[in-house]
Amino acid sequence: EKGGYDYFMLKEIAEQPKAVADTLLGRIDAAGSLSLDEVRIPASVLREVDKVVIVACGTAYHAGMIAKYAIEHWTRIPCETELASEFRYRDPILDQRTLVIAISQSGETMDTLMALRHAREQGARVLAICNTNGSTIPRESDAVLYTHAGPEVAVASTKAFLTQLVACYLVALYLGQVRGTKWGDEIVSVIHELSEIATQVDEVLETMEPVRELARSLAGKNTVLFLGRHVGYPVALEGALKLKELAYMHAEGFAAGELKHGPIALIEEDLPVVVVVPSPRGRSVLHDKIVSNIQEIRARGARTIVIAERGDTAVRPYADHLIEIPPTPVLLQPLVATVPLQVFACELATARGNEVDQPRNLAKSVTVE
Ligand code: F6R
Repeated sequence: EKGGYDYFMLKEIAEQPKAVADTLLGRIDAAGSLSLDEVRIPASVLREVDKVVIVACGTAYHAGMIAKYAIEHWTRIPCETELASEFRYRDPILDQRTLVIAISQSGETMDTLMALRHAREQGARVLAICNTNGSTIPRESDAVLYTHAGPEVAVASTKAFLTQLVACYLVALYLGQVRGTKWGDEIVSVIHELSEIATQVDEVLETMEPVRELARSLAGKNTVLFLGRHVGYPVALEGALKLKELAYMHAEGFAAGELKHGPIALIEEDLPVVVVVPSPRGRSVLHDKIVSNIQEIRARGARTIVIAERGDTAVRPYADHLIEIPPTPVLLQPLVATVPLQVFACELATARGNEVDQPRNLAKSVTVE
């Protein structure tokens, strides 16, 4: 049932291009616009939405953090993303014009369920993004957009995460399409690029051998740090989470801009630091800033592991290890940038002799608060 792979996690990492394609299937019409009929919230209601709040836990929360950038950019609706376990205890401000998006692979995560119940009690509409048909979270929501990742068996989420991202982009683009924004042209072109993204995920998977080799060489380390900016920041957090849960290593993700506000004190000789670099096209300010961050940490002895777009020559001189990913629109980069981090964590965990599919102390679905 592992389809020839040693672990479910490896199988599920390999299934990502298909999972992504399946999640897009039937949702982009021939004319290149989105039809999300399953989202039974009428367009008239979506046009009135004045705030979006995303609630989720763990890896799904990282998908939600990325969604915030996409939703605010393409729709200009204020959006906040919060850990489901924190959300309801701070008495959040919600009403009929709030759209709450609950993201959950299992559909049974108790904290996320309690957050959505709280939101509905306040009159907010709830849209679930979920991978499990008929589970509790979609049943209790006003609408659901299913991710079509197929069953995810490994405790560490991989293909579900990528499909959660796809679903978040679909919602963001759909909201933009329904409401009409000044980004209309960009929305059309991004929908087109999204429809091709599975091929790029596949390309990344084809080039992972050096990443596995690198991971094995780091098996004796105690700490790995991850840095990112913009949508690369949640990717850094996700890379660190995967490494913690699988390799049982101290791993931390930071916003690169925060370095000088504290974390740079951690940098010492030969400390591995993974940096997710935004495209040098698109918003080049972001790119240039992170290149100087890489220079700063390298000057202090860090071993830099750089994930950058193919053809990004500016980062090369500062990368001790360069992991190239295909070019994508800025906001879609997490779909390709996360994959090497999954492979890295899985291989490192294996090299340390850990049980990859069933990490210690963890359960696939957390049904207690
Ligand atoms: C990490 C992981 C967890 C889940 C979290 C939410 O690899 O799998 O952090 O993402 O427990 O689970 P769902 O998505 O089922 O609500």
